[in-house]
Amino acid sequence: MKTILCIGAGYVGGPTMAVIAKHCPEHRIVVADVNEERIQAWKSGPLPIYEPGLDAVIQETRDRNLFFTTDICGNIEAADIIFVSVNTPTKTFGHGAGRAADLQYWEKTARLIRDNSSSDKIVVEKSTLPVKTAEAMHCILESRNDDCHFEVVSNPEFLAEGTAIHDLEEPDRVLIGGGDTERGRAAVRELVALYEHWVPSERIVTTNVWSSELSKLASNAFLAQRVSSINSLSAVCEATDADVDEVARALGMDHRIGSKFLNAGIGFGGSCFKKDILNLVYLCEYYGLQEVARYWEGVIQMNEYQKQRFVGRMMRTMFNTLADKTIAVFGFAFKAQTSDTRDSPAITVCRELLEEKARVVVTDPQALDNAKSALSEVDPENITFEQDPYAAAEGAHAIAVLTPWPEFQELDYEKIYRAMQKPAFIFDGRNVLDQNQLYRIGFNVYPVGKQPLSHV
Ligand code: UDX
Ligand code: ADP
Repeated sequence: MKTILCIGAGYVGGPTMAVIAKHCPEHRIVVADVNEERIQAWKSGPLPIYEPGLDAVIQETRDRNLFFTTDICGNIEAADIIFVSVNTPTKTFGHGAGRAADLQYWEKTARLIRDNSSSDKIVVEKSTLPVKTAEAMHCILESRNDDCHFEVVSNPEFLAEGTAIHDLEEPDRVLIGGGDTERGRAAVRELVALYEHWVPSERIVTTNVWSSELSKLASNAFLAQRVSSINSLSAVCEATDADVDEVARALGMDHRIGSKFLNAGIGFGGSCFKKDILNLVYLCEYYGLQEVARYWEGVIQMNEYQKQRFVGRMMRTMFNTLADKTIAVFGFAFKAQTSDTRDSPAITVCRELLEEKARVVVTDPQALDNAKSALSEVDPENITFEQDPYAAAEGAHAIAVLTPWPEFQELDYEKIYRAMQKPAFIFDGRNVLDQNQLYRIGFNVYPVGKQPLSHV
């Protein structure tokens, strides 16, 4: 039996440890976090994050071989392997502000591990981190004058929110980066053995630490780049008679390109894409690779442009003024099947609508609490949060669909149309609604990357 400690009980740490606990019943897994409220929620539910399938895994493993605690220091010594999945937001101050990762939580955790250990440990980087973090971590951990040895291994997480349990159960690959020493190779073997409980060996890829760290940033940069590429084409489609879905379909049928991640919309969000690209940009600048930095920066610029373009189109369509108009925002989460609103494009869109003096009513099946926190600075006179989408749309001049929740496809739009101001507009920012049907009902429909279906 091994004891595994995970520091950080968030979107990554919680689900990852639950799945490890499920498949490795002989190991004892302890998940620790500084946030008492969060730990209490993991212990007794409702769980602190919404993730389909997570409840069942937690029911099976909690108090069997999966435990949650706020006592971080007290659980370090007993651990053979320590996963670190604390948050690494983008720095908001000092050198590299707005680009580099804020590593203060990471460094504090490294010192905590160092100061509370008296036996050898494998320390696993699980958060997304700038390349060479493992090296810095190693330096801190080794700054003790005794024989205690820490082996730092990079094991980036590729799970996507909303499908986290599936991604963990059946990963495309598990990446493990370790040092090229006897101890480094032994640590990698130990992690491989852990994952081999349920992941086929051919899907477990071992590399050196830096390749592993860079692969994580590169994967997210490539995925985000696809979204920005199709979004850039959506602007061309709107200016011409092309249809972005038709273009994406034709593109995706080339097996070298593939059909995934070609949905045009209001832009990508989430805690990873922007942060990881900014990390990559910072890294490139650090090494004097200005052209490479500018290349990746373009992916983020296109994403910002897409959000602004969406609001600009709403403005132009609604007779060049949004002042005093009510906009029902359908969906605030950065994608469907999650309550997460970190870096959601809805934040920017709502702020821009409010700038134009529109009144905003937000509805979302899972993310209303997080939406309230994300827009806490807004005067409550100007914004309302409404669980019921029918109530949200009542009296509204327009609906803006910002998250592709399947629930929004099931609504009775005849009823919604009757309760709205006329002319009634729908801006389908995710191209998920039956646009022809909406047009027949009487809506003026504005998809992304397609010609509008308009009565006015
Ligand atoms: C991403 C990576 O997919 C995952 O491997 C990594 O571990 C963490 O970052 P996640 O942020 O959970 O996962 O969501 P993802 O499904 O990748 O979507 C990111 C954003 O891109 C969302 O806002 C989504 O709506 C948007 N997107 C995605 C599009 O606009 N169009 C697409 O075709 C795909
Ligand atoms: P991610 O999506 O990367 O999992 P989250 O913000 O959901 O990010 O989770 C990170 C978790 O790490 C949070 O619950 C936070 O409280 C926790 N955390 C941050 N710093 C520390 C620390 N020094 N020790 C323990 N937990 C920490």
